[in-house]
Amino acid sequence: MRLEDKVVIVTGAGGGLGAGIARVCSREGARVVVADIRGDAAQAVAESLPGPALALACDVGDDDAQHLLVVQAVERFGRIDGLVNNAGINFAKPFLDTTAAEWERIIRVDLRAVFFLSQKVCRQMLAQARPGGSLVNISSVHSQAALPGAGPYDAAKGGVVAMGKSLAVELAPLGIRVNAISPGLLNTQIWQDIQDAAPSAEECLDYWKSNIPIGRVIETEEIGELAAFLLSPASSAITGANIFADGGMTAQLISKEPYVSRALEGK
Ligand SMILES: NC(=O)c1ccc[n+]([C@@H]2O[C@H](COP(=O)([O-])OP(=O)(O)OC[C@H]3O[C@@H](n4cnc5c(N)ncnc54)[C@H](O)[C@@H]3O)[C@@H](O)[C@H]2O)c1
Repeated sequence: MRLEDKVVIVTGAGGGLGAGIARVCSREGARVVVADIRGDAAQAVAESLPGPALALACDVGDDDAQHLLVVQAVERFGRIDGLVNNAGINFAKPFLDTTAAEWERIIRVDLRAVFFLSQKVCRQMLAQARPGGSLVNISSVHSQAALPGAGPYDAAKGGVVAMGKSLAVELAPLGIRVNAISPGLLNTQIWQDIQDAAPSAEECLDYWKSNIPIGRVIETEEIGELAAFLLSPASSAITGANIFADGGMTAQLISKEPYVSRALEGK
């Protein structure tokens, strides 16, 4: 098992992607701290995992709650080897209408929390026997390409990647690696909401198939597999990376060709 005996914190693990990451980490032998602002949801996920797990109610945007999360994880499992900064909130509203309070709400959870929780976890990782560890930050395809109305979210997700590179080069000599994963459209509540809002399920599927080269949304455990790899010694040479797990979405130049061009031979 890739994460035998490792202690891994996954934030926002009470549902969606975080729960998928927690499941894979647990299957791979990790002792998992399932942290979520919804304590009851965290508890349900922790109880469903195959290995030892601790559920904690925690608002990652709150500095005192971050401190408690680290203290309680160490109290229960004795050390911390990995942190997956997954908790995140989405946002879509026209730029001209976005308020300062909305900007701050998104940045607080999607960017500031990643920095300061990582700081607390790294201090612990460096203080323990066998210092070192691995941080995995969940960014998004929004770190590469944009949608209208997503300014605060895109700023946060781009910031997570840029900040992660700085942490990676600073912490590499200390044995801590820092990487980002940028998922494409995931099979979570967001995908359900998109389908529910579409005039026809068939048209909706066709549209998204044309936008995602592999022709489907991404399963949460596919991201979990990548996170487990980045948390494990198998990825020991990888730090400061932003890995796209988006079914080719950001590799595609144009989503749907309006017409088919003649063959181009480079002349
Ligand atoms: N769903 C997608 O298509 C998609 C694509 C790319 C990236 N992402 C990123 O993946 C991550 C997870 O997204 P998801 O789709 O699973 O979302 P989700 O809303 O289904 O789950 C997010 C979880 O985070 C928790 N959470 C929210 N605020 C929190 C806080 N302040 N403290 C602690 N926990 C908090 C929620 O309770 C929830 O359990 C996010 O960072 C998101 O930006 C999602």
